Amino acid sequence: MKAYQITGKDGLASLERVELEDPTEPQRGEITVRVRACSLNYRDYMNVMGLHGISGPLPRIPCSDAAGEVLAVGPDCGGWLPGQRVVIPFMPTWLEGEFSREHSAAALGGACDGVLREFITLPATSIVPLPDGISLDAASTLPCAAVTAWQALRVRRPVKAGETVLILGSGGVSIFALQLAKAAGARVLATTSCPEKAARLRALGADAVHQYRNDPAWDEWALAQTGGVGVDHVVEIGGAQTLNRSLHAVRFGGHIALIGVLTGTKGEINTVQVLRKGIDLNGIYVGSRAMLAEVVDAMGRERWQPVIDGTYEFDQAIEAFRRLESGLHVGKLVIRV
Ligand SMILES: NC(=O)c1ccc[n+]([C@@H]2O[C@H](COP(=O)([O-])OP(=O)(O)OC[C@H]3O[C@@H](n4cnc5c(N)ncnc54)[C@H](OP(=O)(O)O)[C@@H]3O)[C@@H](O)[C@H]2O)c1
Repeated sequence: MKAYQITGKDGLASLERVELEDPTEPQRGEITVRVRACSLNYRDYMNVMGLHGISGPLPRIPCSDAAGEVLAVGPDCGGWLPGQRVVIPFMPTWLEGEFSREHSAAALGGACDGVLREFITLPATSIVPLPDGISLDAASTLPCAAVTAWQALRVRRPVKAGETVLILGSGGVSIFALQLAKAAGARVLATTSCPEKAARLRALGADAVHQYRNDPAWDEWALAQTGGVGVDHVVEIGGAQTLNRSLHAVRFGGHIALIGVLTGTKGEINTVQVLRKGIDLNGIYVGSRAMLAEVVDAMGRERWQPVIDGTYEFDQAIEAFRRLESGLHVGKLVIRV
């Protein structure tokens, strides 16, 4: 089968297109999926660049997010049939309930081989069936970014109609957060780097947009937008260098979903703000298979569609990574397999 592997520590130069053995017949309780589309997350870029995550030996097949068709069904797999369209969860062992170290270790494209390949064999219990209305390209964008936004705004502290949600930037997680917040009847404030992306964010439903390159004090802007009260939720994808501003921008008793590390993993944090304001600070790590199934269901019910910045052929995978690296994208990048 065709695949990509991270073979060394030279960044994108170490991402190699390879030919690997086809998988053998699935064992009891397993299903083999023919991957058709795979989407990129910032995490995949960090893994290729050696910045984060990959523990264990190389080579490693990157990427976590894929959708495809059932190719072969092992014994005792219930009613699955070849040809059924499915989406694959980020952590195939985390079916539902609480998160654990074991589930973290099962994350595809991190501690385990990922999905940027033609076939993958998984426990039948982990994969999620797709309804007709969701394309495989769209489904491939859901397992990491959409599920993360879902856990942040629909599970850990559900957003209510009339609340204000602050999103940072226009990448995969942030655009899904925008859509989930708007679908729930919330007001969305967004920060972004440039006027073109500000226009896109407005077109996607953001109620107010702030360009942080012109004025880095987006926390003050968010406070002004809420009459000095602060926002109800922050979808925090920046990390070390943005968290203090998020702590400032959120209201007393508000919620910060701590998700990203775009500005680094370590920093001096104003911890007293967290307790003095009674902030609900939730660390989020993607989500379970049950959350992925909820996202699939919500897409049909709430009528939102993933925002796909570009679709690339398998041999153009490096180009897709370069687009992510450029930071020029809005939403998701899809590679067809
Ligand atoms: N914890 C989890 O489960 C989880 C899940 C998914 C992602 N993440 C993390 O969340 C972050 C975003 O991931 P993603 O896949 O959505 O990324 P992405 O699609 O690559 O989007 C990144 C966007 O963030 C904005 N940005 C970049 N630097 C920024 C900064 N210093 N301050 C504010 N905004 C900045 C840019 O948009 P603008 O140009 O519009 O500002 C950029 O395009 C990453 O750190 C990723 O590792 C964590």
